[in-house]
Amino acid sequence: MTLAPNGAAVNEHSSADVVIDRLGKRYGPEWAGVQAVADVDLTIASGEFVAVVGASGCGKSTVLRILAGFEPATSGSISVGGRPVTGPAPERGVVFQDYGLFPWLTVRENVAYGPRRRRLPKVRAAELADRFIETVGLSRFAEKYPGQLSGGMQQRVAIARVLANEPQVLLMDEPFGALDALTRSDLQTELKRIHVETKTTVVFVTHSIEEAVFLADRVVVMTGGASHGVPGHISRIVTIDLPGERDITGPEFNEYKREISDLVHAVAGHV
Ligand SMILES: Nc1ncnc2c1ncn2[C@@H]1O[C@H](COP(=O)(O)OP(=O)(O)OP(=O)(O)O)[C@@H](O)[C@H]1O
Ligand SMILES: [Mg+2]
Repeated sequence: MTLAPNGAAVNEHSSADVVIDRLGKRYGPEWAGVQAVADVDLTIASGEFVAVVGASGCGKSTVLRILAGFEPATSGSISVGGRPVTGPAPERGVVFQDYGLFPWLTVRENVAYGPRRRRLPKVRAAELADRFIETVGLSRFAEKYPGQLSGGMQQRVAIARVLANEPQVLLMDEPFGALDALTRSDLQTELKRIHVETKTTVVFVTHSIEEAVFLADRVVVMTGGASHGVPGHISRIVTIDLPGERDITGPEFNEYKREISDLVHAVAGHV
């Protein structure tokens, strides 16, 4: 049985959005490769916000790339909305640390690109683009090119571009890692609002424990990895039982931070 953020039991076949079942990934051949992750089990309810933290090399990006459909698992399975993941799809939007925008297209054209590829009529694609450009607060910049925007603004465009595909799941790999602290904190607040507004399921990989506790309903802690001699795996899942608006200076917030930090830094095999 799985528990939703509110503690209610989740029927895995109706409201579960992402089901990761004994996932394993080996890079390279059986006799010389690296078992990057093993036995990863995780069920994420529809609309849930899950953060994934863990030391470098524990396999966070590997799990996210498999979820995105960019590479296959070598064991186990993943399904999203009841359908097995076999490759990339617009219903799974991906945002990386580098924005990946097309520099020769304007903000509006970048955001309308996905809907156009889905063969939506031009007017409908433009409507979707404008709606999500507004969501990320960039309406005044719709005609600009990415090179004319700051890093934080470019990341906003990248988020709008993914949202315009109306994804069921948003997969984010250290999306704010390259931003200065102030911009990062603005975008965290904005992402939280967007999550409440769109009810999209989010899987968010980050090195920042504070960011994870601020954003997530549950924080998945991974440990292990090649340098520890054991494959990366989930060592603990911490449910963040705090209100939507979170006071990052409050005692409960800091208690969660300390607990997760201890888990992240625990030597693999001892947890
Ligand atoms: N394409 C690849 N080929 C071979 N090994 C790989 C490949 N990608 C990742 N690995 C290995 O798999 C393990 C997990 O890597 P991964 O990038 O998933 O870690 P991570 O948790 O995202 O780390 P970081 O926090 O540094 O981003 C590492 O040992 C890494 O060297
Ligand atoms: Mg990574």
